[in-house]
Amino acid sequence: MRDTDLKNTRMTGWYKLPRRDRVSGLAGFLNIPGKDFSDILDSGGLDVDTADRLIENVAGVYSLPFAVAPNFLINGRDILVPMVTEEPSVVAAASNAARMIREGGGFNVSLTDPIMICQIQLIPSTPPEIAGEEFRRTAMTILSRKDEILAAAADVDPALKQAGGGPVDLEVREILNEKSGPEFLVVHLLVDVRDAMGANAVNTMGERIAPILEEISGFRAGLKVLSNLADKRTVRVEVSIPVSALEMKDYPGERVRDGIVSASRFAELDPYRAATHNKGIMNGVDAVIIAAGNDWRAVEAGAHAFAARGGRYMPLCTWRKDDDGALKGRLEMPMAVGTIGGAVKVHPAARLSLQIMGATGAGDLACVAASAGMANNLAALRALATEGIQRGHMKMHARSRIN
Ligand code: MEV
Repeated sequence: MRDTDLKNTRMTGWYKLPRRDRVSGLAGFLNIPGKDFSDILDSGGLDVDTADRLIENVAGVYSLPFAVAPNFLINGRDILVPMVTEEPSVVAAASNAARMIREGGGFNVSLTDPIMICQIQLIPSTPPEIAGEEFRRTAMTILSRKDEILAAAADVDPALKQAGGGPVDLEVREILNEKSGPEFLVVHLLVDVRDAMGANAVNTMGERIAPILEEISGFRAGLKVLSNLADKRTVRVEVSIPVSALEMKDYPGERVRDGIVSASRFAELDPYRAATHNKGIMNGVDAVIIAAGNDWRAVEAGAHAFAARGGRYMPLCTWRKDDDGALKGRLEMPMAVGTIGGAVKVHPAARLSLQIMGATGAGDLACVAASAGMANNLAALRALATEGIQRGHMKMHARSRIN
């Protein structure tokens, strides 16, 4: 393929090309010198000296396949999606589903502000059983001094303030023990972390304001750390797919659509199924998060805690039949990711990934990761609701077998 052959990310038969041609096509499409691609990716994306600076006790580096999924149209933009995974068929499934979603106008993605929560635990000296009234009074006193507390937290990170972020609010929660008595208070410091994942910024702020909270409350500060249940930093994806795009050999589009809706209901009603349904979503999400050098454990923890927030473990993505007969999908999940700081700063392949997907900030990365998650969910349900997952899966496994 010549460089100029790629005009948008809708690609046919791209997977059949030799790897070199795929890379040169990509380089041309993205206007990145082909040599930059090879220098970074041919050796696994990370040299041992950089790795040695990243974590402790380094003995070497460990590589995983780095792929690029075509066909994604996200908020009207053609996006190539970098994916790092060891699992065959994840990239093919994402590309295939993105092609179907494209036929319905692509992924419509919206985001909340990037608000992270830092928790500061406040432990009373009085035994909990006699502290009830004191808890309420203390919570009110803390809230009455909100401005002073937020100002102290803001002082920690002037650069964040300059970028338009910083502490935005304070909440106080009573944590109840099994007998429904209050056991301790928890202050939530809400921080707009802009393009950072935010763990370092909010943890430092929590440690800075803890002595002030101790002084105000007379309680002792316990833990001060971010919550990975980042439910104030969520991404929402909506798609509508015409039935014609869902058709398979031996399966009319209507039947595929109804099978996907029924599979969604199964996950909504049964946590055993919801866990697997969400695992399929995380196949896509994690692959993008890892490619972008981000903390995928944080995203995983947030996803599953969010899925269980109502008291029962639920699917992160659901599917319905639209009034006009199309298949309508909706996904919502926390997405605590960053495009500055951490490994992103030093990992060459992570920086290349952001360049490939055209991410200029954390919001772009969140949109791409969530879209990949939805694509993988659609592909899995479509296969499960028709010919079964093993046919396609085994084809890919056979391809990857090392003789
Ligand atoms: C396998 O990695 C993921 C699936 O099990 C997801 C699902 O069942 O929805 C195929």
